Amino acid sequence: MNPELDKLHPYPFEKLSALKSGVSPNSKLNHIALSIGEPKHKAPQFVVEHLQQQVNGVSAYPLTKGIPELRQAIRDWLIQRFNLPNDSLDHEQHIIPVNGTREALFAFAQAVIERNHDPLKAPLIVMPNPFYQIYEGAAYLSGAEPFYINTTSENNYLPDFDSVTDETWAQCQLLYICSPGNPTGAVIDKTTLQKLIKLAEQHDFIIASDECYSEIYFDEKNPPVGLLEAAAEMGNTDYSRCVVFHSLSKRSNLPGLRSGFVAGDKNILANFLKYRTYHGCAMPLHHQHASIKAWQDEKHVEENRAIYQKKFTDVLKILEPVLDVKKPDASFYLWAKTPTSDEDFAKNLFAEQNITVLPGSYLSRQAHGINPGSQHVRMALVASYDECIEAAQRIRRFLTS
Ligand SMILES: Cc1ncc(COP(=O)(O)O)c(C=O)c1O
Repeated sequence: MNPELDKLHPYPFEKLSALKSGVSPNSKLNHIALSIGEPKHKAPQFVVEHLQQQVNGVSAYPLTKGIPELRQAIRDWLIQRFNLPNDSLDHEQHIIPVNGTREALFAFAQAVIERNHDPLKAPLIVMPNPFYQIYEGAAYLSGAEPFYINTTSENNYLPDFDSVTDETWAQCQLLYICSPGNPTGAVIDKTTLQKLIKLAEQHDFIIASDECYSEIYFDEKNPPVGLLEAAAEMGNTDYSRCVVFHSLSKRSNLPGLRSGFVAGDKNILANFLKYRTYHGCAMPLHHQHASIKAWQDEKHVEENRAIYQKKFTDVLKILEPVLDVKKPDASFYLWAKTPTSDEDFAKNLFAEQNITVLPGSYLSRQAHGINPGSQHVRMALVASYDECIEAAQRIRRFLTS
């Protein structure tokens, strides 16, 4: 067997199941899960109907590169959303549809990492800590080592990029960033993104920017900035060394459609496309047609955001007086500091109030002397408004009883 498989950590939800096993939850209360980041708002009906109309797409093998109409719709969305120069993105060269960002984020490292660059040193993949665990697994299976940058409250839950030495950047081949971040909801600002692009040029590494939460934000006038936008504004209009990952899962409540895209540096994408042709992960044609409809409409996305905005405002009114938590920059997560250990908090909350939250230490590793996820829990406000309010009231009761 591939020995790198032994390096893969159990997924956070396996650890959570183990923590909960043997605990009997309060049976007088219904269960509310705030643990999983799976959108629960309604899928847009017009997309579902189009998917049904196009279902005969099952009769054809789709191409890995996707149909031009989908890449064109994605291109138009990117240009409009991130104010990119109109001639800077070509749907033939700069965009590849993917079956959700998860598989693409994972596969990307295999395609770009040069394993034997320096036989004495494993290549590094630099990533935030806590993180979306796929980055770490991708590092191991590509023959690289993960290098974690802690995100702590002292840094507003953003990775402390300044703490990384030149030697580490020199060894880095790929940097994963996640903005808005899972689990912290923090957004990396334009100046920092531009600093990272300069570092990537200086040390010759690639930036993979996971932006799958970019459309879940609270200030309609101030959407999160993206890596391509930061690159274009500094004159890097061929997006050299920059690749972004976007998804319809959170934006359009379509996690089961498995539809997203990667966009950016055309040379990197040409090689990634070559890799994917062998990987065999083309998006089914009917999913491509449905995706076009979703990328072309903003109304359903605005309506979706409005539901999150109300949930966050009202849930925080209940929780802020009793818990160390504040509104994130964006995303649908609350990242709260716990008064006890994160595992104890999660276990006792489950026992007393039948609510599941995810211990922060399940999303992070011990690095540079600390585990930045410990004493935190992640709460995904994905359930209905009423359920989220009910959950907040129970958490308040739990903390004040
Ligand atoms: C940070 C982050 N990236 C990527 C994904 C994958 O999303 P999808 O594969 O549905 O696009 C998730 C899903 O929860 C996530 O939290």
